[in-house]
Amino acid sequence: MPYLSPALNVMTAAARKAGRGLIRDFGEIENLQVSLKGPADFVSTADKRTENQLREELSRARPGYGFLLEEGGVVDGPDKSHRFIIDPIDGTTNFLHGIPHFAISIALEREGQLVSAVVFNPVTDEMYVAEKGQGAFLNDKRLRVSARKKLNESILATGIPWLGRGEHATFLAELAAAMSQSAGVRRFGTASLDLAFVASGRFDAYWERGLSPWDVAAGILIVREAGGVVSDLDGGARALETGHILAANEPLHRQVLKLLTDAARSAKS
Ligand code: IPD
Repeated sequence: MPYLSPALNVMTAAARKAGRGLIRDFGEIENLQVSLKGPADFVSTADKRTENQLREELSRARPGYGFLLEEGGVVDGPDKSHRFIIDPIDGTTNFLHGIPHFAISIALEREGQLVSAVVFNPVTDEMYVAEKGQGAFLNDKRLRVSARKKLNESILATGIPWLGRGEHATFLAELAAAMSQSAGVRRFGTASLDLAFVASGRFDAYWERGLSPWDVAAGILIVREAGGVVSDLDGGARALETGHILAANEPLHRQVLKLLTDAARSAKS
């Protein structure tokens, strides 16, 4: 059984409750796909409503904590040493298109350190949790990153930049290198779940550029507590700050970092 600190208990309860609302909203999406207006406004309302609900639940249980919210930005609380980092719907594009792969992501920071994390996929009812120093769990099962050491046997996951976002040339060079040296590349569209999948050994490694703290904060702790390595794309510890991230087991982290560094350099030369 996972160790659930009182804070983590509050976070999982809030995620479950908000997840029930998201499931109801998701049921509407299919109908809206075929309407002329489309589901965009509906989804943005669902996003904001879910965020408000999470904020209310968490504030009630932990009055005074601050927030970093995808929709609402920075909300300072009188307690300067704690803040929740929340993405109410990570994988909004999937959600909008009726693709059942999205998650609620909640991390708790204490004195600037990630200490508790929840990534909840309400469709599959998969609740990933981690507590600093206590390991990572999927529902009741302890998580471990994969044991694969060979890149040519490994599945890599990534995020593909889209219209108006990211350096396409750099990404294409990285993808070409990853394609030619691995057993396959996946793009599932929800960064928090990509990280949770690395933690559970489903993916061997994951990289992406240009993410926001709420996409990755919870997932970073979950990977680390599952024995994985998370860095920025220079190999440093600033993935949360830079939004450029690589997560993998230790031997693959080294290999994929080199592959990406060489590819990015070749794209610039
Ligand atoms: C997005 C997802 C996606 C990633 C994007 C993020 P959002 O988050 O995590 O996988 O490729 O870069 O912005 O906008 O759905 O919360």
